[in-house]
Amino acid sequence: MYKLINRDGNAKRGEFKTVHGTIQTPVFMNVGTAAAIKGAVSTMDLQEMKTQVELSNTYHLHVRPGDQVVKKLGGLHKFMNWDKPILTDSGGFQVFSLAGLRKIKEEGVYFSSHIDGHKIFMGPEESMQIQSNLASTIAMAFDECPPHPATREYMQNSVDRTTRWLLRCKAEMDRLNSLEDTINKHQMLFGINQGGTFEDIRIEHAKLISELDLDGYALGGLAVGESHEEMYRIIEETVPYLPIEKPVYLMGVGTPANILEAVDRGVDFFDCVYPARNGRHGHAYTNQGKMNLMNAKYELDDKPIEEGCNCPACKHYSRAYIRHLLKAKEMLGLRLMVTHNLYFYNNMMEEIRDAIENNRYKEYKKAKLDGFLINDK
Ligand code: GUN
Ligand code: ZN
Repeated sequence: MYKLINRDGNAKRGEFKTVHGTIQTPVFMNVGTAAAIKGAVSTMDLQEMKTQVELSNTYHLHVRPGDQVVKKLGGLHKFMNWDKPILTDSGGFQVFSLAGLRKIKEEGVYFSSHIDGHKIFMGPEESMQIQSNLASTIAMAFDECPPHPATREYMQNSVDRTTRWLLRCKAEMDRLNSLEDTINKHQMLFGINQGGTFEDIRIEHAKLISELDLDGYALGGLAVGESHEEMYRIIEETVPYLPIEKPVYLMGVGTPANILEAVDRGVDFFDCVYPARNGRHGHAYTNQGKMNLMNAKYELDDKPIEEGCNCPACKHYSRAYIRHLLKAKEMLGLRLMVTHNLYFYNNMMEEIRDAIENNRYKEYKKAKLDGFLINDK
């Protein structure tokens, strides 16, 4: 259940109650695709990094180790030792971005596994069954993430099918939540709005899915090649047609600047691989923009990545040491980088929540964005 605590312009400060605890929004979910945060970060580490929600993927866990295995071991929370909320993406997006030889039909998608090529079918019912076996807190509806650019005709057909799939997801989730041996009988369902950059298709779809009284609503099919300005425009035009008393989740986005802009347009939930991926490549997020730790100028620099940062990496280690670890390809280097970057994102979300609560979001956003420009030349 979502409770709106304050509104500052269009920015929302909320609380989302789940069976696995209350999520303070806006929130950044930390991506652990295959039930692990890349960069050797454990769920114990996440507790120190202000992580509120872990995100895993239906498709990956279905392929390996198998959702039946996870179910037999008591569900994803027990399996990975994380008792806070978990959101699982439906497989829709991953099937389209990863798997080979897809065939989209009314019943679902036929594709081959990216691990061993074996043939798999996934439709709305299968996706819900897998997510129910994983027993995540929040399940995402099975959708098509259409390519960009797409013709208007392709987009309309795709969105119509995604709507029919959503109705099937809802019916299947209701059925699964009522079964005796379901682990999380309170699993929640978020619907996904699609429509690419066609704002009228987006708005019509948003109106349709808003009537279904789902637990939350996501904007999908963004950050797939359109410009940032186009993405902001679509968010701005679509969010007003989603229920204000429900959380809005912008899928797969984005940079700190993207998040600051999207919060200003009413978005509550985010996820993105950037902090972990950039960390693994030696790029640290700071309030003065991104820093490349591989740079020779940090060889003798005994300051932390960011002065004043309370993350486990900055509290205990220097730029020079982390640079050395990265150069020597020591796992610890990646781990410290990812730790700092995830902390940076989670901490920024805390600042965002504080700014909205105190009706100073616009000033906060401007100051933060101005800071990022320092190293962004
Ligand atoms: N992750 C990023 N974009 C999308 C999307 O459009 N659909 C789903 N299911 N996941 C996503
Ligand atoms: Zn730090």
